[in-house]
Amino acid sequence: MDLIPAPRHQTPYGTDDAFVLGPETTLTATPGAEGAARWLRGVLAAATGLPLAPVEPSGKDVIRLAVDDAVARDLGPEGYRIMAAPNSGVHVFGGSPAGVFWGAQTLRQLLGADAFRRAPLGEREWRVPTCQIQDAPRFAWRGFMLDVARHFMPKDVVFKYLDLMAAHKLNVLHFHLTDDQGWRVEIKRYPKLTEVGAWRERTKVGLRESPLWDERPHGGYYTQDDIREIVAYAAERHITVVPEVDIPGHSQAAIAAYPELGNTDVVDTSALSVLTTWGVNPNVLSPAESTLRFYENVFAELLELFPGEFFHVGGDECPKDQWRASRSAQERMQELGLEDEDELQSWMIGHFDHWLTERGRRLIGWDEILEGGLAEGAAVSSWQGYAGGIAAAKAGHDVVMCPQTHVYLDWRQSEDPEEPVPIAHARGLEDVFRFEPVPPQLTEEEAAHVIGTQANIWTEVMDAVRVLDYMAFPRLAAFAEVAWSDLPAADERDWPEFEARMRTHYARLDALGVEYRPPGGPLPWQRRPGVLGRPKDGPPPIV
Ligand code: ACM
Repeated sequence: MDLIPAPRHQTPYGTDDAFVLGPETTLTATPGAEGAARWLRGVLAAATGLPLAPVEPSGKDVIRLAVDDAVARDLGPEGYRIMAAPNSGVHVFGGSPAGVFWGAQTLRQLLGADAFRRAPLGEREWRVPTCQIQDAPRFAWRGFMLDVARHFMPKDVVFKYLDLMAAHKLNVLHFHLTDDQGWRVEIKRYPKLTEVGAWRERTKVGLRESPLWDERPHGGYYTQDDIREIVAYAAERHITVVPEVDIPGHSQAAIAAYPELGNTDVVDTSALSVLTTWGVNPNVLSPAESTLRFYENVFAELLELFPGEFFHVGGDECPKDQWRASRSAQERMQELGLEDEDELQSWMIGHFDHWLTERGRRLIGWDEILEGGLAEGAAVSSWQGYAGGIAAAKAGHDVVMCPQTHVYLDWRQSEDPEEPVPIAHARGLEDVFRFEPVPPQLTEEEAAHVIGTQANIWTEVMDAVRVLDYMAFPRLAAFAEVAWSDLPAADERDWPEFEARMRTHYARLDALGVEYRPPGGPLPWQRRPGVLGRPKDGPPPIV
């Protein structure tokens, strides 16, 4: 059956025995399961050409979806149970509507790779092998971060990735919406954020040392209606969208649009434009009251669009040089009785922590928000290795483990000098498969604060969906197994068994039109010469 991610338990009865779908097969749902049924009928009717009518069946020729209290009790809300047999049909019981939906995803995999196509290839038999499956996720937060700031990804790409996340039982889209190189969400009160901030003059092609430029302007943004549509599309797939608006660093696109947001007593911020190169950037927000009010107004509009519990405020890579040089920033620190610039950043993050908490939300930020003291209810995305996550969990804060050394899917996939994206160190499929989100330094109680894990894609060198596909897959499939499945310790994981299952999974990805990196290395058209920048030497540091 080669399911990915692997379920907790599966019992096939026999290889030839199967429930066979036909023109009379009905697909019914009890209350709570209608959404999953609507989704399943949509994809299976397209792939098979069968009507799968939503009527109560008279006989055994049925696919039935239901929410079930016993499953909720035994396997939790996201758990599900599947029973398939020729003389009783296919039953998918979930612990909640989400559990039913994950079960429906598994059922699609059971039907074979062609169930992932958008239209039937011709007449054929559709079989669900006789089996019993019981399944539930390891982590509640199974995230994927998509950076649409460095390269704008049109709405269609976001829908494609939401579908791919759902197919892999991932349930949090961390949507990196703003950065130095672009602001990607309409804010009604501040139209220049997108009129100015969504566009850059040209783009560095490759890393800093690359001599290449794309001289065309680049940009784009989502209207508020686009965002509502994306959030609703995600919700139908039991995915929560967590927006990220990066403060106080990674903010040059906003400063280019509204120069008063920057440190105007240090640099002429009116001369700044949306950044065209990559890397950590000195032009950061000023800590003035007016800046706080501006971002409160921005966040207020976004809270209307994103109903999830968490709101990501970035907080990473904020050089403090401008604050050190700024008289008004220094006066601010004195006024607040702060010792240093790290405390000033903490104070800013703390301000938004209170602001969000008052509105019933929770702040999450990159692990730099630990420097200078972590705001009370804040959660941490641990990206600089495990250390930040360990410190945060030990202090009783919730953590999403996403160490760059393991699950940054912008890192290149092999030592081949013609890997198309030359970032950092080589991390292949097996490295991701062996990623363990919970470090041994944590006690059981502390480990409970690791609410989940996330794979991150930064798109500096990814200007199109083909490159995104190449970098995300197949590694996101291995990541999904880490986030969902009940795997043993990293060095005890059965890599050959996973590789064998992946062979079936590649056919599903092919049917979906995902241009993943083939196991044998990049195809000729995917190869790029080394001019885009130098990758780092040696094995990746483990921190
Ligand atoms: C990050 O990679 N700067 C969060």
